[in-house]
Amino acid sequence: MVNALNISAVAPDPALFDLPWDLPLEDWPQEVVAALPRGISRHVVRFVKLSGSVLAVKEIADYAAKREYDLLKELANLSAPSVAPIAVVSGRRTAKGQPLDSALLTQHLRFSLPYRALFSYRLRPDMATRLLDALALLIVQMHLLGFYWGDVSLSNTLFRRDATEFAAYMVDAETGALHTKLSDGQREYDIELARTNVIGELMDLEAGSMLEEDLDPVAVGDLLVERYQQLWRALTEEETISADARWRLQDRINRLNGLGFDVAEMSMQTDPDGTTLHIRPQVVDAGHHSRRLFRLTGLDVQENQARRLLNDLDTYRVHSDQTDVDESFVAHDWLTHVFEPAVRSVPRDLRGKLELPQIYHEILEHRWFMSQRESRYVPLEEAVKSYIDTVLTHRRDESELILADTLQLPIQDDIQMG
Ligand SMILES: Nc1ncnc2c1ncn2[C@@H]1O[C@H](COP(=O)(O)OP(=O)(O)OP(=O)(O)O)[C@@H](O)[C@H]1O
Ligand SMILES: [Mg+2]
Repeated sequence: MVNALNISAVAPDPALFDLPWDLPLEDWPQEVVAALPRGISRHVVRFVKLSGSVLAVKEIADYAAKREYDLLKELANLSAPSVAPIAVVSGRRTAKGQPLDSALLTQHLRFSLPYRALFSYRLRPDMATRLLDALALLIVQMHLLGFYWGDVSLSNTLFRRDATEFAAYMVDAETGALHTKLSDGQREYDIELARTNVIGELMDLEAGSMLEEDLDPVAVGDLLVERYQQLWRALTEEETISADARWRLQDRINRLNGLGFDVAEMSMQTDPDGTTLHIRPQVVDAGHHSRRLFRLTGLDVQENQARRLLNDLDTYRVHSDQTDVDESFVAHDWLTHVFEPAVRSVPRDLRGKLELPQIYHEILEHRWFMSQRESRYVPLEEAVKSYIDTVLTHRRDESELILADTLQLPIQDDIQMG
């Protein structure tokens, strides 16, 4: 029987035809699949190396594969924090002509980790809080785009280190739907499901003695809802200010910037008597600091990494006596004389350990710890060398972490600094 494969791909790569589509994904040979850490899932998911990049392949019913593929394409157009779609492969058959489920291919998100790969032994409260903050922000971002997720959970999320925090990305859009705008009811339903799922996942960890004892799964679930609601209110709530205190408008914008958001549109209405002003952000975009850093330096990094680099830039500006020099000139100077030399001195074979901006962040932390410990000024070059020799060399490679099984992770504690 002829195997009439049908491949729809965002970036057509002939190498896609070389994969063993006539075999159930579970039986793909070792030479094809890369063993990367995976979250827990119902479907079979495998990673393959194709033309130099790593792709995730999920075997799933044709209708669901196409639906998720289309949704991920729409989300990519909206610059949503989600994995990028690559292709759908349908019409698969075994050599004997038995039909096989379709396959959805997505780009493996470099330097991302499933939550279970983020801690070695037990999930500690500080790590749980950071994961939840990242997840709450992700849900808010998706809801702002009008995306109802339908199955928010830690396993359906990927985490990337972002300075001292984490940045979360949506990995599983199967149950999702895009709307023009979500109603409060839809949002509440989504967040309630998130709460239930997270509590369930933490209880699983608890049952496997992988949760630190004083961590209460229900309290963590409640915290997720609280963080989500706080952020949602801060971003969308209407505020009434008196017409003679218009500076409070700028104040609101500054607060949103502080939370990492830009205001793309604000609605403002005065009362008929003109004494009060009602303001409400209409369109807000995450990534305030990363956009600002990008404008200044061309560096494309995550939000908290950007905050860190901007602080370093400010410090440099003061120390190099350039407070009255135009910021974009100082930024160029900082980039060529500070940032680039530091990251360039990281040996190539160590660059797969962490993203370069993350390495730079850790160098700054390391320098701070060194100067505290030794009560002296530590030049950057010295901190770089010490960091590479004493910290970076001993870390695992996280660009495409190669592991056989998520449940057998090598011992590596979460962020170690200093
Ligand atoms: N593009 C990707 N990059 C990195 N990891 C991925 C990617 N796609 C999938 N994974 C990993 O595979 C796991 C399973 O994928 P996914 O959640 O899409 O499968 P699923 O079977 O639909 O899950 P569920 O059981 O929630 O329905 C994820 O938790 C994630 O760890
Ligand atoms: Mg899933």
